[in-house]
Amino acid sequence: DTSKLWGGRFSEPTDSFVQRFTASVNFDQRMAAEDIAGSLAHAQMLCSVGVLSAPELQQIQEGLATVQREIDEGSFQWSVELEDVHMNIEARLTELIGVTGKKLHTGRSRNDQVATDIRLFLRSAIDRIASELTRLQAGTITLAAANADTIMPGFTHLQTAQPVSFGHHLLAWNEMLERDYGRLMDCRARMNQSPLGAAALAGTTYPIDRAQTAAALGFDKPTENSLDSVSDRDFAIEFCSFAALLLTHLSRMSEELVVWASAQFNFIELPDRFCTGSSIMPQKKNPDVPELVRGKVGRVNGHLVALLTLMKSQPLAYNKDNQEDKEPLFDTVDTVLDCLRAFGDMLPAIKPRREQMREAARSGFSTATDLADYLVGLGLPFRDAHEVVGKAVAHGVATGMDLAEMELATLQGFCADIGDDVFEVLTLEGSIGARDHLGGTAPNQVAAAAQRAQQRLAER
Ligand code: ARG
Repeated sequence: DTSKLWGGRFSEPTDSFVQRFTASVNFDQRMAAEDIAGSLAHAQMLCSVGVLSAPELQQIQEGLATVQREIDEGSFQWSVELEDVHMNIEARLTELIGVTGKKLHTGRSRNDQVATDIRLFLRSAIDRIASELTRLQAGTITLAAANADTIMPGFTHLQTAQPVSFGHHLLAWNEMLERDYGRLMDCRARMNQSPLGAAALAGTTYPIDRAQTAAALGFDKPTENSLDSVSDRDFAIEFCSFAALLLTHLSRMSEELVVWASAQFNFIELPDRFCTGSSIMPQKKNPDVPELVRGKVGRVNGHLVALLTLMKSQPLAYNKDNQEDKEPLFDTVDTVLDCLRAFGDMLPAIKPRREQMREAARSGFSTATDLADYLVGLGLPFRDAHEVVGKAVAHGVATGMDLAEMELATLQGFCADIGDDVFEVLTLEGSIGARDHLGGTAPNQVAAAAQRAQQRLAER
């Protein structure tokens, strides 16, 4: 039949495959609540400007409340013939309230309607993500503060480099997450404008009040240009690029957790509830949760590329291509929320194995730079000091001895001026405590940094 909401100019029914191919209702019904909110704001505004009467507005309000209730209860009959969430809801409204239902779409198009719905959907997703991210950061900072003086080896090239505070390492993670939070807020601020009123592309002939609908829906203001309003999906791309970076960070953190939890490193204990066993190897306790988070970045990066590619050649204004924006966007939101939840629960529960970390930091000549700095204090140019310590390390490698384990006389064989006080410099505590400046790893600096980080969270 040709009894579609847009069936007037058609003389044959839609091909049944085309119907399924062009329909989006199976996924865009997720925006039903936003669609109804947008319709309520639109109808209210139409009434204020005299396009709808007060009784008509009331009918629409009551009808949409019924639709919302049916959706909540699961009794709403979604129909692929009605293509998308917008037409499903409008058709049901008309079924419920009759001819007044057909007036709701006055001065509006699905093009500005869908642009509004996605922004509303994404905005509330952003707010949930922001609070999960804050929870993860709070857990990270708390663990960092408790481990300001827990010593571990710091790495470059995954080779032992210099001792660092475990708390300092955790606060490095927090800095990544802090930037992610900033990007998320930037995205929210830029997207929070109302496209409603752009109609199909050119605006509408009715005396609409765009500021009213914008305010009713919690937007900062209406968008500036009707063509741009219905064609812009920058905000979705921006959100997905935030997500790709966040997941990149979570993936890097995951990688470290996986390595640290291995028998070879043995730096941390992951609680059993975040791990699984092997069906064949009885001894196994696998770090599945961080591994899976590390893997999820692939899907999110894919969604970002999908959206960029979706947009790249679209002429103004709306094109049906844009219907393809929703599945990648929704899956990105779901993935981000799941990963943040996994990390937010898991991170505060990891147990550092202080003795193992310390032991690892003691080996690998992690205080070699400290010895070089000590020699500079005795008057050697740094390059010469580097050379002297290099020889001492070579001796240590040959004899299986750490610098701190060598006799004073042995060390003096490399530089006669070395005194008894050198051993203080070669301790792990001496090494990290000496890096006592903003951004350094000295425990008092780490404690202060944790406090500042905590303060920033409190000010959100
Ligand atoms: N389902 C469509 C989408 O997701 C809604 C807008 C359709 N507009 C149109 N003129 N076909 O983008």
